Amino acid sequence: MKWDGLLKEFKSYLPVTENTPALSLQEGNTPLIPLNSLSEELGINLFAKFEGLNPTGSFKDRGMVLAVAKAKEEGAHTVICASTGNTSASAAAYATRLGLNTIVVIPDGKVALGKIAQAIMYGAKIVSIEGNFDDALRAVRRVAEQNEGVTLVNSVNPYRIECQKTAAFEVVEQLGKAPDYLAIPVGNAGNISAYWKGFKEYHDKKGSTLPKMFGFEAEGSAAIVKGKVIENPETIGTAIRIGNPTSWKLAEAARDESGGVIDSVTDDEILHAYNKVARTEGVFAEPGSNASVAGVIKSVNNGSIEKGSTVVTVLTGNGLKDPQTAMDQADITPKVLPNDEDKIIEYIESLNNG
Ligand code: F0G
Repeated sequence: MKWDGLLKEFKSYLPVTENTPALSLQEGNTPLIPLNSLSEELGINLFAKFEGLNPTGSFKDRGMVLAVAKAKEEGAHTVICASTGNTSASAAAYATRLGLNTIVVIPDGKVALGKIAQAIMYGAKIVSIEGNFDDALRAVRRVAEQNEGVTLVNSVNPYRIECQKTAAFEVVEQLGKAPDYLAIPVGNAGNISAYWKGFKEYHDKKGSTLPKMFGFEAEGSAAIVKGKVIENPETIGTAIRIGNPTSWKLAEAARDESGGVIDSVTDDEILHAYNKVARTEGVFAEPGSNASVAGVIKSVNNGSIEKGSTVVTVLTGNGLKDPQTAMDQADITPKVLPNDEDKIIEYIESLNNG
């Protein structure tokens, strides 16, 4: 099937003008995968919107394509962002395609390996700070304010949320209706706000129903759940290791208007979901993404998601982004055998019998 990327496919829903560069890495149009085994176990109809299959491996590509195109249209020479990794990879890919420079500011030692590798390969200038995402965001906001031609592409940039909303359109089209519940990880809280905007717009224009928005923070960085800024956020899901979410108020509005919930999940619950989705469904998403699946399991068990309902869980990033956490899940390293066919066959047969 032909797919031209978000700026073309959803042009009538976006602030795209004749001066907007035709930027595309053919982002969007990601699959909605039924999670059969979990559906049966939980007694719901569960689907994953696998955003890890976007061009740079995360949902960030949806918003970045418009934010970078607009930056170029408005005369910027450089884009800048703070990032837990995925935003930086995405910004760098789109910016380089339009000949713009990229500066990314990341928390030292807390960004998954694959994301740093991407930023390097796309040619970003990387600034690693002895601080967290929230500290990085404060700094880049100031740089963008003080320097002409430098555009901030974090989700405070309104074009990001505007184009990320297209994921909600796709969910409704793929399912043939809106789900009863939309489960999503919450970090800086832009994506939950974007989905809610998208569902509302489709409701207004196409008469589709509205889901209850269920957002999930990691317990060690659960600012919205706890109602206070977390000075030193921590979680295995480094993507959502954020203690002062920018779109805090928008996320609360999405929750309240939809009759939803923002809750937290522990690192153990995240790791359980991370393993389970890979091993039973064949879908490998990064740890932070699985906060949404962990949240679905928790919510079915505590009765806040009703049995029999249709639930879409957003898997925001690809599992390959974070190879280290994956390797840490196994207590054995792959066995290395001598190159002796009999020995190799003998060993494989012993596995089969085991
Ligand atoms: N999942 C993944 C894989 C992410 O990378 C992020 C955010 C989120 C969920 C949370 O989304 O911030 O819209 O609530 N990552 C940002 C980054 C902060 O820098 O890549 P949100």
